[in-house]
Amino acid sequence: MRGLRIGSLTVKNPVVSAPMAGISDKAFRVLAREMGCGLVWTEMISDQALVFGNRKTQELLDIEGEHPICVQLFGSKPETLSQAAEMAAGRGADMIDINMGCPTPKIVKNCGGAALMKEPDLAAEIVAAVVAAVRIPVTVKIRKGWDENHPGAVDFARMAVAAGASAVTVHGRFRGDFFSGTADWSVIRQVKEAVDVPVIGNGDVWTGPDAARMLEETGCDAVMIGRAARGNPWIYRDAVHFLRTGELLPPPTSEERVEMALHHFDILVRFKGEYTAVLEMRKHAAWYTRGMRGGARLRERLHAADTIGSMQELIRSVLVQQPV
Ligand SMILES: Cc1cc2nc3c(=O)[nH]c(=O)nc-3n(C[C@H](O)[C@H](O)[C@H](O)COP(=O)(O)O)c2cc1C
Repeated sequence: MRGLRIGSLTVKNPVVSAPMAGISDKAFRVLAREMGCGLVWTEMISDQALVFGNRKTQELLDIEGEHPICVQLFGSKPETLSQAAEMAAGRGADMIDINMGCPTPKIVKNCGGAALMKEPDLAAEIVAAVVAAVRIPVTVKIRKGWDENHPGAVDFARMAVAAGASAVTVHGRFRGDFFSGTADWSVIRQVKEAVDVPVIGNGDVWTGPDAARMLEETGCDAVMIGRAARGNPWIYRDAVHFLRTGELLPPPTSEERVEMALHHFDILVRFKGEYTAVLEMRKHAAWYTRGMRGGARLRERLHAADTIGSMQELIRSVLVQQPV
């Protein structure tokens, strides 16, 4: 298994975590790193909100002690994206990624995210401006394209690299696909063949063998894993282990899942305080207990867990329901 080199940044293995708004916060990233993930991504952060000093957005840039870490920014203006990138670099980011793939209407209507794939000149200007503003590698995360009628990932990736991008992440779906169907990995291969910087493949890696298959079928340099990690940080360990040995690890036991959920909750409380941690843990607890006996009953009761103690008790209660 090879490591990954993006510009001046060396990453110990080719397994990276995906940026996921509302999910890949500091607690999630701590777990991903504990599970061996080579490089973690923040969730996307608005350039404008950072530059204008929005307090909640500033909190998203709490990356102290996290290395290596990529800060993902979204926006549509070269000036504010550059300023935001400088702020992120000042906080210790090892890499800046620019979101050019988010399909959400709220983002694309302001010409951010995937809408930039319809505006390659503006996108090139953005990449060049951000590259000029910071001394760390700058990358872009794109989709297969906006739709069939616009330039696709290959031309767009070439443009981004010509403008100075040090790597390209490709999610094999069009903007309009959102998350439907299965990701088209052939486009990852096409981009890999077209550019001479590392390409990170993304979309529908759910297991260690999927990670190996994506690397093999597309020739990409690393795999990015997102949804499979919800309630399942072991995916990073599984992928790294499978790539290293070709062996599958046994899935976590019910006890391990409950322990991990409690550990996740502990970290959330430490970073965000009781009120927010309890609210946010509701979705994580639902994911951790998916498929477990008593999980459905737990999910019905999650809204009533409103203190640290009641959340911990509820999570532990699932164990009582497990067959011995
Ligand atoms: C809840 C959620 C939030 C996401 N937020 C972001 C984001 O902030 N930035 C981004 O580039 N992609 C975002 N994505 C897309 C993922 O990074 C990734 O491209 C996508 O989930 C496909 O990978 P997967 O099949 O491994 O999940 C998000 C996806 C989900 C499910």
